Amino acid sequence: MCISFSISSFCVLTCNVIFSIAEMDYGISSRPRSQLAVKVVVVCSLTLVFMFMLRQSSTAPERVMFSRHDGITHVLVTGGAGYIGSHAVLRLLEDKYRVTIVDNLSRGNLGAVKTLQQLFPGHDRLQFILADLGDTEAVDHIFSSNAIDAVMHFAAVAYVEESVEEPLRYYKNITSNTLILLEAMKKHNVKKLIYSSTCATYGEPDKMPITEETPQKPINPYGKAKKMSEDIIKDHAKTTDLAATILRYFNVIGSDPKGILGEAPPPEFRQHGRISSACFDAALKITPGLKVKGTDYKTKDGTCIRDYIHVTDLVDAHVKALEKLRSSGVSIYNVGTGEGKSVKEFVDACKAATGVNIPVTYLGRRPGDYAEVWSDPTKIKVELNWSATYLDLKETLAMAWKWQQAHPKGYQSAAL
Ligand SMILES: NC(=O)c1ccc[n+]([C@@H]2O[C@H](COP(=O)([O-])OP(=O)(O)OC[C@H]3O[C@@H](n4cnc5c(N)ncnc54)[C@H](O)[C@@H]3O)[C@@H](O)[C@H]2O)c1
Repeated sequence: MCISFSISSFCVLTCNVIFSIAEMDYGISSRPRSQLAVKVVVVCSLTLVFMFMLRQSSTAPERVMFSRHDGITHVLVTGGAGYIGSHAVLRLLEDKYRVTIVDNLSRGNLGAVKTLQQLFPGHDRLQFILADLGDTEAVDHIFSSNAIDAVMHFAAVAYVEESVEEPLRYYKNITSNTLILLEAMKKHNVKKLIYSSTCATYGEPDKMPITEETPQKPINPYGKAKKMSEDIIKDHAKTTDLAATILRYFNVIGSDPKGILGEAPPPEFRQHGRISSACFDAALKITPGLKVKGTDYKTKDGTCIRDYIHVTDLVDAHVKALEKLRSSGVSIYNVGTGEGKSVKEFVDACKAATGVNIPVTYLGRRPGDYAEVWSDPTKIKVELNWSATYLDLKETLAMAWKWQQAHPKGYQSAAL
């Protein structure tokens, strides 16, 4: 904006100056005014053309590639600096997609973005935009200045306990921001969406495993905000040609097998920590030990049962969903392994994977938690030909542990 404003001002100024000189000439010259006027117009036009070309060539490479449809699918990845989003970006870039990350870095890592930029340095592969999805104007500008073909919407605050303490933050960040995103997509004719939802939208069903037909009765603001977003997407798709896939993830763990990326929540969010990073923090002695919340659930060993899905498998489900998006309408899939593991089993696997005898303290239940949750992934297997491949907890955690050991301070200690 600023650049274009100053260049046009300069051109106008240049023309004015030339006209003034010409006017002065008329006073002393005997040449006809019409001949001089033509020359002045030609000089002004050439100056404008020159300035326009200069502007195009100085800003061209990045803007043109991201703002032009050229047969390469350009995916806007919201929350691409976060744990799951960054893994999705890695896979998309490996698969030759063009990617724009939008993230406010409130909970993500610039280090993850830099790692990806170093791996894919081309000016037409990956761009990062620092913006908040709650900023309607910024979101509109992203869509108006980039040729986006599809959106993967990961950005969200995503801690159950925090959502109980600060429900308004969750409804705003998850539900309201999804609305803003959908409005911008509609305005700019972007019709493809993959939405990150969660098994928390089911609450605590009577019957396990959970299928996509299991009634959604969320019991915490996080799950409720996600369900509301799902409902908005479904209603919106009824009257438009939006093609959306809603993926309801179970508990996501692990990191990419090549050791490029990992899970590194900012230190201030460690207190809300998910089980895998909490285990690693304890193994690295960043925290004194592990706190297991709730030992009196009606489960095989009293601790909660969860379905732990590897982030690489999860990202694969996203790419398959994107490839198979219908021309319109909404598809919904559970993304899990189909197996439930107890928190105690998880802790044992973590001890075995790290080789550290992590001290464990058993505490009362965490507010907003539920006893057992695991998926029936049949639908996604049948319709998208997807199934989880990483089923061994110890192996998965050993893989992630390697990244954690190499990055004990998260991305800060990466060589950037
Ligand atoms: N991790 C899990 O086990 C799990 C399970 C189910 C669903 N999910 C969903 O997956 C998605 C990604 O989760 P994650 O574990 O990678 O979380 P994360 O916190 O690592 O990543 C979220 C990213 O979104 C960004 N963000 C948040 N609010 C934003 C805003 N207003 N504008 C722009 N950027 C914003 C953060 O900075 C962060 O980089 C979320 O939608 C979450 O609800 C995660």
